[in-house]
Amino acid sequence: MGKLVELWTKQLSIGIEDIDNQHLRLFEIMEEVITIIQKGGDDLLVMKTISSLMGYTLEHFTLEEYIMEKAEYPEVEAHSLLHKEFSDQLIKIKISFQEKSSPNEQLEKDIHKLLADWLRSHIREADGDYASFVQSKA
Ligand SMILES: [Fe+2]
Repeated sequence: MGKLVELWTKQLSIGIEDIDNQHLRLFEIMEEVITIIQKGGDDLLVMKTISSLMGYTLEHFTLEEYIMEKAEYPEVEAHSLLHKEFSDQLIKIKISFQEKSSPNEQLEKDIHKLLADWLRSHIREADGDYASFVQSKA
């Protein structure tokens, strides 16, 4: 597995600077979680980092949803459901770590997949779509 932050490319930029920065930060925190797990960091630190990832995710989604609502973007509800899907995945990852119900390699894979597949296509498609809408209104 390559480094997660390297999966961030200019192509993922949606043209709203704050959001682009937050996306990159999400990549970084997800990378941090994986690195700590790989290094065999203690459980408390892993849990703390997963919690900050969840907190940051919430903050990020709240900002996106605010931007969409303000611009009266018609797909805001469908988009929010996608955000919920991502948050649910994170909760699942946190619970399996807490309960030690899957091996750490599996968790690393799950986090990697969530970022490399889900988040990247979400940014390219769903976020790209609301960004064009917002920009066309501005
Ligand atoms: Fe989004």
